Amino acid sequence: MSHELVLVLDFGGQYNQLIARRVREHKIYCEVKSYKTPIEEIKAMNPKGIIFTGGPNSVYLDESPRMDKEILELGIPVLGICYGAQFLVYALGGVIEPAHDASLSEYGKTECEIDTSSPLFDGLDKNTIVWMSHNDYISKVPDGFKSIGHSVKCPYGAMADEERKLYGVQFHPEVNHTVQGFDMLGNFLTKICGCRGDWTMESYAETAIRDIREKVGDGKALLALSGGVDSSVACKLLAKAIGSQLTCIFVDHGLMRKNEGDEVEAAFADSGVNFVRVNAGERFLGKLAGVTEPESKRKIIGEEFIRVFEEEAKKIGKVDYLVQGTIYPDVIESGLGDAAVIKSHHNVGGLPDYVDFKEIIEPLRLLFKDEVRALGTTLGLDEKLVWRQPFPGPGLAIRIIGDITPEKVATLQDADAIFREEIANAGLDRSINQYFAVLTSMRSVGVMGDGRTYDYTLALRGVSTSDFMTADFSRIPYDVLEKVSVRIVNEVKNINRIVYDITSKPPATIEWE
Ligand code: XMP
Repeated sequence: MSHELVLVLDFGGQYNQLIARRVREHKIYCEVKSYKTPIEEIKAMNPKGIIFTGGPNSVYLDESPRMDKEILELGIPVLGICYGAQFLVYALGGVIEPAHDASLSEYGKTECEIDTSSPLFDGLDKNTIVWMSHNDYISKVPDGFKSIGHSVKCPYGAMADEERKLYGVQFHPEVNHTVQGFDMLGNFLTKICGCRGDWTMESYAETAIRDIREKVGDGKALLALSGGVDSSVACKLLAKAIGSQLTCIFVDHGLMRKNEGDEVEAAFADSGVNFVRVNAGERFLGKLAGVTEPESKRKIIGEEFIRVFEEEAKKIGKVDYLVQGTIYPDVIESGLGDAAVIKSHHNVGGLPDYVDFKEIIEPLRLLFKDEVRALGTTLGLDEKLVWRQPFPGPGLAIRIIGDITPEKVATLQDADAIFREEIANAGLDRSINQYFAVLTSMRSVGVMGDGRTYDYTLALRGVSTSDFMTADFSRIPYDVLEKVSVRIVNEVKNINRIVYDITSKPPATIEWE
């Protein structure tokens, strides 16, 4: 079954992924492609509509992204957003002017009056708040276009050539600050492009299972299962598609949270796949003994992980396919710039080049994180795994400051479990994006009963973030923190002091190491 498709052509804007997300929230499948995609390729994809994203530049600069205006002659409806709208104007002979006069550039929430007789704004309120962010402005629209929205400063806040189904908005309908933006995109998709909305996780699962079966035939596949959402959902999908032709290797490095290894095993051991759990805790802790430097810990765990995986893979012999849990944001972001490496991330999903296989299967490469979760639910994956918060590959090793011992691991596991339990009891487990305990290696004096103690300080951390690149510390209610604190010092040995981390990222990172 093929889905209706809408293309998002990326001109370098910061919201390209968000636009794709919004389209999918309307149950319409969409893909983000570069503006450099050849026209022939675009035609072959047969999109029902095209959205041009914003971009950082002025259309008149030599280096600005442009494409052949043939794209506008295919009879496919187009919505240009911000730079995308200016590109439409540029390509079709209108005029853009730089707002030398600061009074003509707009940034932030702006009142706009829209023409509700246009299909783009059908059924919406006439006066509305939109999110503007532009320096250049449209001073003359191309022939055939008319204004369908204006603000005080901007005569062409929105424009349309309704006959050719070409639309442009100077603002960003994809961001929440544009109050009716979601409905505007909905109007474009349904009323202008004629989409019905056939993108559901049930249909995705059906198609993916059929495609995987076709591809794998009677071959063998191998998957490194970390217990994270992505590899767990990939495993469940493959289990339904090819059952015992899949072997998944779960390397338990002994640095998971309390009971987590057993939960992963319980979720997959009877799922019809060959499930191999390698209990390598002692081996990892042996290698880590006495190591205090965070990057060395990461490196040791990364290397040891590969070694263990390799040994197990060799026992299976030749496999045809290696399954990876790559998701769509990784695909969109891959190759984008070279941001400074703050921490080297050891990702259990991102494996190896040494296992002898024919091809890689990435069954989630078209999905956003929330869609991966929805797919997990559709496939009947244990809710605990579906809603698992992000957990770093090196696990608790980077949440124990300084050297790691089995006793410290056990102490942290117990304390962290109490924290998580109380957060769930308070109903906060899905609203705080990541929360965990850190065993600092600092000791301090306390008093318990009649005696003096000299024990560890435990730090609690909770953050709210959408992308994990920046994060704000969570305002966890004091009474919840109090309950956690009382329980931990009473129930966990060797901890006599609890602190809450109130730094955001930047300047701190989310993890302590
Ligand atoms: P930081 O600490 O860099 O974390 O602010 C951002 C996000 O990445 C996770 N993280 C890791 N994930 N291997 C991983 O797979 C790592 O070494 C690692 N270090 C940090 C962290 O949990 C947060 O979600």
